Amino acid sequence: MKIVRTIAELELTGVVGLVPTMGALHDGHRSLFRFARAENDVLVASLFVNPAQFDEQADLAAYPRDEQRDLQIAEEAGVDVLFAPTADEMYPAGFGTWVDVGDTGAESTSRPSHFRGVATVCLKLFNIVQPRRAYFGQKDAQQAAVLRRLVRDLNLTLEIRVLPTVRDNDGLALSSRNTLLSPEERAQALALPRALARGAEAYSQGGDAVAATRSALNGSTPDYVEILELDGATILASAIRVGSIRLIDNVLLKGELS
Ligand code: PAJ
Repeated sequence: MKIVRTIAELELTGVVGLVPTMGALHDGHRSLFRFARAENDVLVASLFVNPAQFDEQADLAAYPRDEQRDLQIAEEAGVDVLFAPTADEMYPAGFGTWVDVGDTGAESTSRPSHFRGVATVCLKLFNIVQPRRAYFGQKDAQQAAVLRRLVRDLNLTLEIRVLPTVRDNDGLALSSRNTLLSPEERAQALALPRALARGAEAYSQGGDAVAATRSALNGSTPDYVEILELDGATILASAIRVGSIRLIDNVLLKGELS
């Protein structure tokens, strides 16, 4: 695996698949690597904790980082090129152009400039790496919807692939932030996938998915519970706070992601 830290050093040929990440890699990332490995000649992963998508400095400072471990996981997953730039490489002095993503639903109300930062860094990565396909997780469904719209609206030619959420045995969606939870908080966090499952059950019986999710969350007040459409698929999404950690999750109600 080649580790590349500057844009100038990146030299890629053939059909390229890109998996953008912020590191602290887990089985959710591994699943994206596996799909991308199978569908492309060259697998590029990016490892960049993007300061532009953090609304709170404290969240950026606390974000888990373990580059040595990430390098090993990426190498084992068959990544050919790991692009791990510095913040100065991505946002040099004088940087000032941002993607204005418009309305993106409840997740953006909670985190106003988050998707602007995500869309901007992803557009930069798409231009730098020029992949045929880029891979994202359903776990961040609103993010996938924003990026699908970016590709449509700005006439990009790559394909955005959205792949299923990988969960722990108890149902908690894997997330780099889970390592920040105490054992007690981790137990509380299970309320989120359980409530979403209740919402999906209510929906399948013709009931109100949002109301069922809210009532199953008894005790913890969600940032939001909403139904969103993602290219024909209907998704039930929610976010809760456990201690200082904000967790998001969603389940598919109807249709399929691709
Ligand atoms: P990060 O949180 O590292 O996630 C990288 C990719 O892994 C995203 O597409 C995310 O949806 C996916 N992912 C995370 N947890 C997952 C899980 N449990 N199952 C399946 N896929 C999962 O998302 C970001 O980084 C950043 O916003 C980024 C796109 C890299 C832009 O900075």
